[in-house]
Amino acid sequence: MRVEDFILKNYNSGIESGSVKWESPSNIALVKYWGKKENQIPENPSISFTLSNCKTITELTFTKKQNKEFSFDVYFEGDKNEAFKPKIQTFFERIEAYIPFLRDYHFKIETSNTFPHSSGIASSASGMSALSLCLMSIERLLSEEKVSNEVFNQKASFLARLGSGSACRSIEGELVIWGENESFPDSSDLYGVKYAGDIHPNFKNYQDTILLVDKGEKQVSSTVGHKLMYGHPFAKQRFTQAHDNLGKLKTILASGNLDEFIKIVESEALTLHAMMMTSMPYFILMKPNTLQIINKIWAYREKTNSKICFTLDAGANVHVLYPEVEKENILEFINNELVSYCENGHYICDQIGFGANQIEI
Ligand code: PMV
Repeated sequence: MRVEDFILKNYNSGIESGSVKWESPSNIALVKYWGKKENQIPENPSISFTLSNCKTITELTFTKKQNKEFSFDVYFEGDKNEAFKPKIQTFFERIEAYIPFLRDYHFKIETSNTFPHSSGIASSASGMSALSLCLMSIERLLSEEKVSNEVFNQKASFLARLGSGSACRSIEGELVIWGENESFPDSSDLYGVKYAGDIHPNFKNYQDTILLVDKGEKQVSSTVGHKLMYGHPFAKQRFTQAHDNLGKLKTILASGNLDEFIKIVESEALTLHAMMMTSMPYFILMKPNTLQIINKIWAYREKTNSKICFTLDAGANVHVLYPEVEKENILEFINNELVSYCENGHYICDQIGFGANQIEI
């Protein structure tokens, strides 16, 4: 697929109004995307587990209008929300070339999350993917051409990427790759693709318990962080390393070798934060409790031979990853030894999921 293939050509603008609804999950990267080129093109490929419980639910109502300005209202958890509007305005400007009917309708965007808004969990991946899927469902209603589910998902992911890079990995499950890589001939910089390689049963229902270390707003946004990879002294080696790690993961995902899996995943998390600490200006998003948790996880693994490991996104919270067979023991460990490092003792239990779903209304 090329960018031009995503431009909607013929559509029936006679349809006056309608509503569509989608739920779309968050995702957690195993190989991290950090650094981008123009138009949200990643500097390196990434791969993520799609999550199951952390979701955004969005209903999009469209009503025909006369003027040609963008027109939309946003409701978050039932209340009108002005704070989300600038981000959506920018998103609409970026995708207009591909969704030309955007100026023909007024949109009511009603959205909510299954996880608390102030949890330090970014809702941009689930939020932007849910909105993109709603727009694709409207496109399907208006379009005079039939699109396959594959093309539907590709374009939804393509649009979501223009809203927030990592959002393009939230359309499908259980694993999604984004960014060209030689081990995966179908991979693309333009959209995420469902991982088509073999996945060993060890990864079935893989668990992710998210320890909420800091629920506050991050001091440095990921937009700023990505930009700091320009001229970063270690950028080139980092981008090469991400390519290599993705290639290695392919073998690991097929063989089910969890010791090797742990090495890649933890190294990726620490490398992401090492890039932040070695940017100019430099910054630290981990908190003392992030490090306390990491040390406790290492000690527990040493003592019990567990296959528990951690990963981090661009924040202080810790994603604890482990096989389903260890669920009972690890939840006990979390409750006994890690909860005290979480803000108000809060954590969220999630697991690998299968992607977004349309909701009938
Ligand atoms: O999608 P963005 O621009 O918020 O960037 C997200 C980057 C990380 O979460 C740190 C890594 C990733 O691949 O998801």
